[in-house]
Amino acid sequence: MQQNLIDHKNSMGTSRTPAAGIQSGALREGTIFAGGIHVGIMIATTSFSAVHIGVIFPRHLIPSVETPQFSPEPRQVVLKTTPADHSGSHQRLENEASLLKENSHPAYPIFYSAGISKHPETNVPIAFLAMEKLQGKTLFEVSNDREFSLSEAIAIIMMLCSALDPIHKKGLIYRDLSLNNAMLTIFGPKLIDFGSLFDTNKQCDAATQDNVIIGTEDYLAPEHMIRQNKTARADIYSLGIMLYKLITGLNPMRDTTPQKTFFNHLNKPMPGLQHGSLLAKFSWRGHVKHAGEIEQMRIDLDAIIQRATAKKPRHRQQSVLALSTELSRIQTRLAAIKPYERDFKKDYVEKRSSANRMATTKRFFAERF
Ligand SMILES: Nc1ncnc2c1ncn2[C@@H]1O[C@H](COP(=O)(O)OP(=O)(O)OP(=O)(O)O)[C@@H](O)[C@H]1O
Ligand SMILES: [Mg+2]
Repeated sequence: MQQNLIDHKNSMGTSRTPAAGIQSGALREGTIFAGGIHVGIMIATTSFSAVHIGVIFPRHLIPSVETPQFSPEPRQVVLKTTPADHSGSHQRLENEASLLKENSHPAYPIFYSAGISKHPETNVPIAFLAMEKLQGKTLFEVSNDREFSLSEAIAIIMMLCSALDPIHKKGLIYRDLSLNNAMLTIFGPKLIDFGSLFDTNKQCDAATQDNVIIGTEDYLAPEHMIRQNKTARADIYSLGIMLYKLITGLNPMRDTTPQKTFFNHLNKPMPGLQHGSLLAKFSWRGHVKHAGEIEQMRIDLDAIIQRATAKKPRHRQQSVLALSTELSRIQTRLAAIKPYERDFKKDYVEKRSSANRMATTKRFFAERF
């Protein structure tokens, strides 16, 4: 198991085991790349790639690169780069680019451009992908700011189910689901980072043909760690863990070391949603009027999570659509008691704007007196 483990990630989304010698193909801020992409700040870097903000100019200005999406105006993009001579990371990026290029979905960033171009300073060939810059934060970042309401948590997982469905229908597993690889935007949740696809037909890495463990340790399905045929139900396992985390704020399998966390995925029973645990998501009046319904909802939701995170894939929901259907039934019941649900998003925005007002007032007095 150990030697297979080349790129598991911790919950921060950073690789613990960067492959030696791989440089991420990072570009310097302010340079012009691929004939028409203005490179902005770098927002992330891993062992495989560098992620920058940039501005892409219209097609006629960059004839050298593939730009199927005609853009009459400059657009803000996220630019992912990796050295083209590193076959593993290059293929991962190509994989991501071709998935985004061939599939448009409301939960995917829009594909703008991809190709290979020379590094403006070193002349080294750099593979790149330019895609829509989503306005929002990763679920991981949002979860550090505030809690999620029950209907919001369920809606996020349902949207991710819909985003995963076309991938699964192609016989691929997304494989790296985590709060870091989904963003919350004003248009709803979006899935990002499609580089880790696993081809179930070949039972190997869709990009590199390797058979390695890739993923974020808190969310990894047990079958990723043992020699067992993998199916799309590995993603259902990760969605179950994500739902639990969004509802409770807890990482159910997290332990002090990655090895212990892996062991937990294989052996530790999934903790249940505790009796009364959903009451904190509702107002006091909601408890008085609907305590029975809320408790019944906890039992049913717990059963859905337990099924999604079953150790044996055959005990899980058959497909992401089946999981989504089960969740939609809870969502319908929630809609009936919606006025009693606490809106953590609104509370957070109000708290933040009142803190901003206080800071402005303090600054005003500090500057003048
Ligand atoms: N389309 C996008 N719009 C806005 N921000 C993005 C977008 N894509 C990525 N990001 C930001 O960049 C960060 C890293 O991106 P991503 O998860 O795709 O790459 P990675 O995990 O560094 O790469 P890899 O796992 O392929 O090595 C994300 O956590 C997110 O904050
Ligand atoms: Mg990522």
